[in-house]
Amino acid sequence: MNPGRIVEWPQKVKPHDRLGRPLHDLRISVMDRCNFRCPYCMPRETFHEHYRFLKSSERLSFEEITRLTRLFVQLGVRKVRLTGGEPLLRPNLAELVGELTAIENVEDVALTTNAVLLAQHAAELKANGLHRITVSLDSLDPDIFKQMSGGFAERERVLEGIQAAFDAGLTPIKINAVIQRGLNDHTALDLVERFRGTGIIVRFIEYMDVGNRNHWSLDRVVASKELLQTIAERWPLHAVQENYHGEVAERYAFDDGAGEIGFISSVTNPFCGACTRGRLSSEGAFYTCLFATSGLDLRTPLRAGATDTELLELITGAWTRREDRYSELRASIHTQEHPIRKIEMYYIGG
Ligand code: GTP
Ligand code: 5AD
Ligand code: SF4
Ligand code: SF4
Repeated sequence: MNPGRIVEWPQKVKPHDRLGRPLHDLRISVMDRCNFRCPYCMPRETFHEHYRFLKSSERLSFEEITRLTRLFVQLGVRKVRLTGGEPLLRPNLAELVGELTAIENVEDVALTTNAVLLAQHAAELKANGLHRITVSLDSLDPDIFKQMSGGFAERERVLEGIQAAFDAGLTPIKINAVIQRGLNDHTALDLVERFRGTGIIVRFIEYMDVGNRNHWSLDRVVASKELLQTIAERWPLHAVQENYHGEVAERYAFDDGAGEIGFISSVTNPFCGACTRGRLSSEGAFYTCLFATSGLDLRTPLRAGATDTELLELITGAWTRREDRYSELRASIHTQEHPIRKIEMYYIGG
């Protein structure tokens, strides 16, 4: 058995799930730890100093991630996103980027980061073939930033990280801002103002009920429509066509030509119908939905010497059984009386 051997996976068996959706995007969490403690993702009361994160040996190695990615590519994946926790906490991440970008048929490799460590890594990531980055930044207001990142006052480092990525050509850069009513909604315009005209695309994300620990409630969600109206009153906007089928963000361009912004409306306008995203956790479990309750363990067979064909069959089986559309069903399947246990966001990286 040669675990690295590439086998031909016939076109006709590229899996589609029960709703006819192919597997096109793979989001790989390379690190379960984070240097922030955003209350909506890794609240301090749970993720304290004694919290048991994975041991290094429990995380997939670069070799294992690369091997699995090759197999996913045979099943149709063309887009790869590295996430965390915070992916830049993974030592030598640029090496992995180099291995993934070298895989034939991988068309896009992007990284989602909080950017605190980005300034020191941007040039090397670019040199190793990373295409672009997306930065999580919920507010420019120093106090709100501190509150939303769980007590970290590193706004300047985030801005330096964005600048370094820009200078390195890791573009188009996108900024993801999760908006919560009464917390940072009044600072959304500042984000628009700061990045308008720079080519950097700010996207506003409706606060979601991912995981079970963030005390989510619908009245904290600011509907994209409402935010769009507020922004458009200041800077007139018009809708633009999606870049690709199933794009998560709805795009709007400024009438004055100063670029575009986006809205990710998974609460008020779910996009499950075109969801082609699979997720690989840092310990090697494959999830077919951001709101999944369980995943397919790939690490055990991988480490027990499974062949490529065996792994391809396992992944194909999980994808062809898939019927997830949590965001569309949210109201009916997750009620106060019958909450379901969902995987936490930090674990599969959004
Ligand atoms: P692009 O390739 O740049 O279009 O990336 P993207 O917009 O698909 O991805 P990004 O990783 O930036 O996603 C932004 C946010 O959208 C995530 O942090 C999540 O909050 C949300 N999101 C992304 N994918 C999904 C998904 O499959 N389901 C749900 N419900 N939300 C998602
Ligand atoms: N709702 C919406 N987006 C979230 N993210 C994390 N938790 C949530 C949530 N509850 C986003 C972060 C980051 C990405 C990793 O996931 O803002 O951009
Ligand atoms: Fe870390 Fe991102 Fe989660 Fe914040 S949202 S705790 S930066 S993984
Ligand atoms: Fe895809 Fe699940 Fe998100 Fe729907 S809720 S878009 S199925 S990951």
